[in-house]
Amino acid sequence: MKRIRIEGGCPLTGTIRISGAKNSAVALVPASLLSDEIVKIDNIPNISDIDALNEILKYLGAKVSRKGTIMEIDSSSIVNKEIPEEISKKLRASYYFMSSLLGKYKHVEMYFPGGCSIGARPIDQTLKGYRALGAVVKEEGNKYIIDAEELKGAEVYLDMPSVGATVNTILVAVKAKGTTIIENAAKEPEIVNVATFLNNMGAKITGAGTSTIHITGVDYLGSCFTEVIPDRIEAGTYMIAGALVGENLRIENIIPEHVDSLINKLKEMGVSIKEEEDAVVISKGENLKEVDVKTLGYPGFPTDLQQPLTTLLTQCKGESILEETIYENRFKNVPYLKDMGADIEIVGKKIYVKGPTSLVGSEVEATDLRAGACLILAGLKAEGKTTINNVEHVLRGYENIIEKLTNVGAKIEIEEI
Ligand code: EPU
Repeated sequence: MKRIRIEGGCPLTGTIRISGAKNSAVALVPASLLSDEIVKIDNIPNISDIDALNEILKYLGAKVSRKGTIMEIDSSSIVNKEIPEEISKKLRASYYFMSSLLGKYKHVEMYFPGGCSIGARPIDQTLKGYRALGAVVKEEGNKYIIDAEELKGAEVYLDMPSVGATVNTILVAVKAKGTTIIENAAKEPEIVNVATFLNNMGAKITGAGTSTIHITGVDYLGSCFTEVIPDRIEAGTYMIAGALVGENLRIENIIPEHVDSLINKLKEMGVSIKEEEDAVVISKGENLKEVDVKTLGYPGFPTDLQQPLTTLLTQCKGESILEETIYENRFKNVPYLKDMGADIEIVGKKIYVKGPTSLVGSEVEATDLRAGACLILAGLKAEGKTTINNVEHVLRGYENIIEKLTNVGAKIEIEEI
């Protein structure tokens, strides 16, 4: 097990550069299998979720090389074989391989994907997309066996704008015969990144980033180069750190529009933010006001920033109300924040956070990726020492978090125990 120790209360000043987006990169890497030539992806983050996908690529026989932030993938000689459950359950995004393999070979066998334990996370909408395009899905326990004589374009209405189901349907449709229309598609920037990548290979996708996406199937996908967009959740996490303990903390390499919902909430609280073309500069807020926040699909407030934001809500005067509408079990960070001095009540899908409260260092657990980020933020603010156990979850999604925070003045270290 790995744990992080933080000595709280240090002001953060200087610049943090944001890495490539985890939730884009984890889709681009499996999407690369659809190409019959070499693809290059720049700005790949160095996180353990990418290592897990790499393991799957290599298991299937792809040639993969990484030079700095560039990943080169040659899938021309892969073998379509069942991906062992131990690898696929390491992360949610493993099921993007299921779609790429189905799209390319019309047959795939794979296990239910893993991912953070934040709710049930069913994949019924992905399966609905597969079936609409003509695939037959058999479930044997935890395993899916999926076959299609022919994949044919179809209209797919998603019951909710699921990121995963949108990406999966695109991956299966790019080589199908005819046109697929996804209605009620998710509009997250990561989906635009995936569509651009596939279009660079020769796919015909329009409308990504809106709720209606058209995909006209093509026979062949070739070589291409693309860049992973900056990680808006990583950016948001460090912006919240700036609002907690920043002194002109500069967060650079961001697309400000992608973090608009957070910028607006921070401004509502009274945090001072200077916006630049691809950066924001944030300082610790004084006399912060309470806010109400509801998580929604993009461009609404992202669920992935809900737990990190909770730490900041403990510093706002009055009662803030935060409603989680995407996942049913994403408040596992709350008991630990309470151990550190927060005053929070969970009522159904909402939490009521009364502040401001002083936070004090404690020993806590990172139960999932963003819960870990929330507790790191709390540790940076708290008086005294905080120990966060099980930080493997955090390393899945935050590149060089120790170095990035140390460079701007945090006293933070990681150790293996
Ligand atoms: N849902 C269904 N059926 C489906 C698909 C989704 O009921 O077939 C429900 C889910 O249970 C959830 C909601 O719809 O309640 C949204 O799920 P979505 O499919 O959009 O999420 P995802 O694709 O599994 C991605 C990110 C998550 C992020 C969500 C929402 C990746 C690998 N994961 O998950 O990221 O929270 O979109 O934006 O892209 C994280 O980074 O910490 C993380 C969990």
